[in-house]
Amino acid sequence: MSRQREKPVADLGPRQAKLEHARLEEEIAEHDRRYHQQDAPTVSDAEYDAMKRRLLEIEERFPDLATLGGASARVGAAPAAGFAKVRHARPMLSLDNAFAEGEVADFLGRIRRFLNLKIDDELVLLAEPKIDGLSASLRYEKGELVRAATRGDGQEGEDVTANIRTLQQDVPHRLKGRGWPDVLEVRGEVYMTRADFLTLNAAQEKAGAKIFANPRNAAAGSLRQLDATITAKRPLRFFGYSWGEVSAPLGARLTEVRDRLAGWGFTLNSPVAVCRSHDELIAYYRDIAAQRATLPFDIDGVVYKVDRLDWQERLGFVSRSPRWAIAHKFPAEQAQTVLENIDIQVGRTGALTPVAKLKPVNVGGVLVSNATLHNEDEIRRKDVRIGDTVIVQRAGDVIPQVVSVVLDRRPEGAGEFVFPTRCPVCGQPAEREADASGAEDVVRRCTGSVSCPAQAMEGLRHFVSRSAFDIEGLGEKQITAFYEWGWVKQPADIFRLQDHAAELQKKDGFGETSVAKLMAAIGQRRTIGFDRFIHALGIRHVGQERARLVAMHYPDVRSWLDAMDAAKDRAGEAWADLNSIDKMGEVVADAIVGFCTRPQSRAVIEALLKELTEVVPPERPAQDSPVAGKTVVFTGSLERFTRDEAKARALGLGAKVAGSVSRKTDYLVAGPGAGSKLAEAQKHGVAVLTEDEWLALIGG
Ligand code: IVH
Repeated sequence: MSRQREKPVADLGPRQAKLEHARLEEEIAEHDRRYHQQDAPTVSDAEYDAMKRRLLEIEERFPDLATLGGASARVGAAPAAGFAKVRHARPMLSLDNAFAEGEVADFLGRIRRFLNLKIDDELVLLAEPKIDGLSASLRYEKGELVRAATRGDGQEGEDVTANIRTLQQDVPHRLKGRGWPDVLEVRGEVYMTRADFLTLNAAQEKAGAKIFANPRNAAAGSLRQLDATITAKRPLRFFGYSWGEVSAPLGARLTEVRDRLAGWGFTLNSPVAVCRSHDELIAYYRDIAAQRATLPFDIDGVVYKVDRLDWQERLGFVSRSPRWAIAHKFPAEQAQTVLENIDIQVGRTGALTPVAKLKPVNVGGVLVSNATLHNEDEIRRKDVRIGDTVIVQRAGDVIPQVVSVVLDRRPEGAGEFVFPTRCPVCGQPAEREADASGAEDVVRRCTGSVSCPAQAMEGLRHFVSRSAFDIEGLGEKQITAFYEWGWVKQPADIFRLQDHAAELQKKDGFGETSVAKLMAAIGQRRTIGFDRFIHALGIRHVGQERARLVAMHYPDVRSWLDAMDAAKDRAGEAWADLNSIDKMGEVVADAIVGFCTRPQSRAVIEALLKELTEVVPPERPAQDSPVAGKTVVFTGSLERFTRDEAKARALGLGAKVAGSVSRKTDYLVAGPGAGSKLAEAQKHGVAVLTEDEWLALIGG
């Protein structure tokens, strides 16, 4: 992880806020991908939540930093390749979290204020368990199940209709009873019971197949099978708890809708409670917490929802989550054990990550032997030493963390841990860089770049991953082997694997057909999307989202590289142009220019380009609107629409939305309270529009 030392958000200057925001966005996007697409998270839920909270706090202070498609507006990750995509008729959102009881009280207070309730007006909430699975939306038309989709990024999910149809219970293929609307989307959680999970894992182990870390990952991995006959063999269940598009209202209260859904054949989550006060909610929370271990399924908290649906309607949503509901999460589970060693792992960007090697210990049902120690500052702050007894915490998901040291149990002679200043893999110096604002990065990085085997290896793994070149038959296992055999040292070598085809056929696990298939799959990827190409390079801070924005900005790969060469001049147009891209910032822009112009990495790009037939620029939206191709910046507090809405409309009309004003900006749409951007626009002679003028321009 590359988070800066955490300063209170209130103390951040605009520049620092922007830098940290960019980093958090990128980190969160990566974790979203690991969690939602690879079903293999590497941070605990608590850490993830902390990152998101901080991001939101920063955006609250600096609203300009929030962007469409940014982590704060996004739920989950974009759909993985392989499944058909389904656009949700109504977005699938997430829930805000509360950890302390005080936050639950705040939640109730906010609702009362928003609805302007009088002191004795009754506010009824439904309390439900929060199931730890993955959400799905099931669409019924005229009573028939016609489509099922995963949440994906909240806007667009994966079509898992065939998979959902294999569920043996809980999901009616045809609605029972009467009175259902013609269009009905039932949403809920696909999960696996603990007992079924254990049985499945035992069978997997016997078959030498993948072992799942927990029921949630097992459920996700089972549902997202391209071959639905595999899903059919997995014991998946479904709990309904909400709905999407409906052609007629379902009722006046949640409690009423639950009864109707049950009548139509759905299984609803339970046990639930109708609560009329803060105390009743907390009593339910404690009761469920006490039952947690004996419930047949994993839960990570409870959810409180306003029962009256007309009130839900009025309360509406704040970016990613409803104002009318909140998840009250359980605290993480902890245990004590001995820290036997500290391993230093080297990642793709050269980050040295300390990993605690623990005497195996059972933490809330999961055997834990590794835990993250984050970075060297954390080790120092907690004064963790080899031989110490430590408290380990696990919150919902894998990668547990070391919380603290039990000092009374420190063995005599345990010395302070000395963090290496050289890369443990290649021996080259490992340094902590200072960023543009002079703050020292918490992460120490190996300076070896692609000459460090660990970085080269991780870079190649990333290159072939699903969101990058995604070559059928060339996964982590194969690329690791090819690297170790000395066949593939950099991406371009993949396209020269033909030279080793004969040798490869002789290796275990590769026959003539599989080698031929692999070569064909590699050949197909000689034509690749420009955005995938950029993402695959593994430039720091450049994930899928930014890669797409960059690919949309430049006409083709060559013009992009030329522009990056020109952007070395910080005073020139090319640098300003790069920085005007949405979600760009100096840190990110610097990483991109650095990667494209440093001889070592440029050579990797050029060698790769030589092997490729075509790098295909992304499709651009409509060209026939009045704002197509224009660059627009929104600023001030918009009143006619939310900023996300405004950006979405503009992008849909083929405009580019930038985060800052430059000479290339065509329009600045300024709401009340516009400040520095307005001044900047006036300086450059950029057309400034009010919200109404903008609406008139785009046709209302
Ligand atoms: S309501 C508009 N109720 O938790 C929000 N969600 O952390 C609709 N979840 O995305 C969600 N149990 O996947 C709701 N009883 C429950 C839930 C529940 C689990 C999941 C769901 C949601 C996530 C948010």
